[in-house]
Amino acid sequence: MIALVVLAAGMGTRMNSDLPKVLHRLAGAPLFHHALKSGAAVSPARTVVVAGHGADQVTRATLAWDDTAIVVVQEPQLGTAHAVDQARAALADFDGDVIVLYGDTPFIQPETLEAMVAARARADVVILGFQAADPGRYGRLVVAGDALDRIVEFKDATAAERAITLCNSGVMCADRAVLFDLIAAVGNANAAGEYYLTDIVGLARAQGLRATVVTCPEAETLGINSRAELSRAEALFQARARAAAIDDGVTLIAPDTVHFAHDTVLGRDAVIEQFVVFGPGVTVESGATIRAFSHLEGCHVGQGSIVGPYARLRPGAELGDDVHIGNFVEVKNAILGSGAKANHLSYIGDADIGEATNIGAGTITCNYDGVNKHRTTIGARAFIGSDTMLVAPVRVGNDAVTGSGSVITQDVPDGALALERSAQVTKPGAALRLFELLKAKKAKREQGTS
Ligand code: UD1
Ligand code: MG
Repeated sequence: MIALVVLAAGMGTRMNSDLPKVLHRLAGAPLFHHALKSGAAVSPARTVVVAGHGADQVTRATLAWDDTAIVVVQEPQLGTAHAVDQARAALADFDGDVIVLYGDTPFIQPETLEAMVAARARADVVILGFQAADPGRYGRLVVAGDALDRIVEFKDATAAERAITLCNSGVMCADRAVLFDLIAAVGNANAAGEYYLTDIVGLARAQGLRATVVTCPEAETLGINSRAELSRAEALFQARARAAAIDDGVTLIAPDTVHFAHDTVLGRDAVIEQFVVFGPGVTVESGATIRAFSHLEGCHVGQGSIVGPYARLRPGAELGDDVHIGNFVEVKNAILGSGAKANHLSYIGDADIGEATNIGAGTITCNYDGVNKHRTTIGARAFIGSDTMLVAPVRVGNDAVTGSGSVITQDVPDGALALERSAQVTKPGAALRLFELLKAKKAKREQGTS
């Protein structure tokens, strides 16, 4: 069994923001959700998030991810060992291994965590290390043969230790009881006056326990400390997501212009045209086409459907197979049955639309009365005339038709034709006479002013 402890207490001073660092978004999700998502790969039986700065907001964002997660608050913040120690009570009855992750380190791969769990077979404490191109201020891993001897923080390292390029990522794994016993022994007599989590390696070795290193590519250990780093991480994420989609059989006509969210799912042979933005929670089934300049979030697009150009699918938009959503159409919290079409200039919100129904240009579901939202229900094979206003709550039956320009406030039964507009008045020659009159008036005005 695995428990996750995610450190998310830091202020993130260099973000220059009122928002806690871990709540800044990467690929549409709070930064620390990426660590939680990596951690999910090892199926944690318990998850503890250590919050500090902005603890209320971090708590809400944690529960939005997993309402069984436990949030503990570290106040004040006295170092990484002190941070993990805040999870002691929450894990007191937990029997198994603990993996510590940093909330500001989003790219740790699931396979890396799996390798760390596997390495517990040969060591009591497993540290994730990496070969740093520029070791900078990272903690240095001092190895002795196969074993990890200790971790030296940069501030406390000698010149010889600073020359080591094998660095500490901060991720570690150890048995819960062992970890908290070691943490209890950590002091703060160091250059920073902090309780270093990294000290547990030396303490473990002194007790005759074994420590080892699992390594991963440096790119996985990238931590976010500033907005510049966040934007670089976003670019990295996008580059990988595009490459992965292409590998999975998706056509991206102009990959650099398509933006993914952390959880975008695109089926095989889907075609994504230029400048498409995916917010969180989008699934596009195979063979669907998302045409240029469309914005999708929290929606599902069925097989073979065509969306856009210039379409907006908002949360709760559920398109069946072979649905057509055209230019300047907005869909929110609405289910469209297979083969339904809304091709031009419409708002479809809080609605159920049956199979093969055609929604004419300019149709609007008037779903909001200023206080409450109401639903519009339209049956199968219906024909909604252009510029129909459907004042919800309202129902239009199967095979029913509404006349163009109608304001529909009453239910329309199956097979009925509903017309709601004034009778047309046509006056022969009246247009010509009107123009004559207007021209004469204009001429008279101009005479008067000359
Ligand atoms: C830490 C490691 C260092 C490693 C580096 C990798 C220690 C002592 N050092 O150093 O070996 O190379 O990460 O990036 O662990 N945090 C809290 N509460 C605290 C202190 C920190 O929640 O009291 C959180 C921070 O928000 C951050 C993470 O823990 O997400 C790491 O803290 P940070 O201060 O960045 O540690 P480093 O000095 O970078
Ligand atoms: Mg750091």
